[in-house]
Amino acid sequence: MFYHNPVMLQESVKLLITNKNGIYVDATFGCGGHSLEILKQLDTQSILIALDQDNESIKNNFIKDKRLHLFHDNFINIKQILKKININKISGLLVDLGFSSFQLNNPSRGFSHQVNGILDMRMNQTIHYSALDVINKSSEKKLFYIFSKYGEFNNPMKIVKKILKFRLKQPIITTYDLINLFFLKKSSFHQRKRFLSKLFQAIRIEVNNEIQCLQTLLIESSNIILPGGRISFISYHSIEDRIIKYFIKQGKLNNIKINNIIPPFKMIHNKVITPNIEEMKCNPKSRSAKLRVAEKI
Ligand SMILES: C[S@@+](CC[C@H](N)C(=O)[O-])C[C@H]1O[C@@H](n2cnc3c(N)ncnc32)[C@H](O)[C@@H]1O
Repeated sequence: MFYHNPVMLQESVKLLITNKNGIYVDATFGCGGHSLEILKQLDTQSILIALDQDNESIKNNFIKDKRLHLFHDNFINIKQILKKININKISGLLVDLGFSSFQLNNPSRGFSHQVNGILDMRMNQTIHYSALDVINKSSEKKLFYIFSKYGEFNNPMKIVKKILKFRLKQPIITTYDLINLFFLKKSSFHQRKRFLSKLFQAIRIEVNNEIQCLQTLLIESSNIILPGGRISFISYHSIEDRIIKYFIKQGKLNNIKINNIIPPFKMIHNKVITPNIEEMKCNPKSRSAKLRVAEKI
């Protein structure tokens, strides 16, 4: 349950490091796989600052290395965290978005549609907004937004109507309560899996405010990375990948016209990097992963 197979470990870390004695940030510590590899590749004078908004991940840390400084915090606060420890600039930032197997495999966290558990999905269990609130308290308009924007469903209203109708009778409490609202018995295994992955993804993004966190981190990264330093971002769905790609290429977050924007980063590879066949076979969860590495100009 505790094991998380780090995705594109070698590629993401090797391309990140440009100064073996530099200061690096792993913004998504998880089970520490990427952090451990970064430490292996750095020299003794280096510093690694690692963050995770999930306190369980901090408590489970197994890395004993005095170069590692671990914080329970959201990466949206990166600037303030660095300021507190008197660091202005860093040589590189690694971000491995989404959730860990540790979170997914624990039914009580409510992340998985394959097991029954309370609808929770909070990565940070100290916040007071969970999947229960999203499903039982959101307005029709908000639910529509969540399923169209974060789930990219073609007909989100169909989903919204089912939720609204059922919750008039009784609250929707567990993952299976939610899944049972949809008549999936006739659909194939793949259709069902695809639908439920998108459904759960949409709710999780809303609960954890994932889009705003990512956008803020991208903007902050252009202020904190030294020229020649790098960002290495691994994402697992197209909404995140589009934001990262657009930001690196255009230097902004959306297509509102602003003149004279010089992108702060340049991509260091032509095509997006994906796991090789071997990795996909050994770790099927890596299949959707996309890695983008860019260098500060
Ligand atoms: C895919 S896992 C990272 C796995 C890690 N690279 C490893 O090798 O074990 C993503 C982790 O990022 C954390 N996370 C997601 N969004 C975050 C945020 N906005 N701030 C801090 N941590 C976040 C999650 O709690 C989770 O532990």
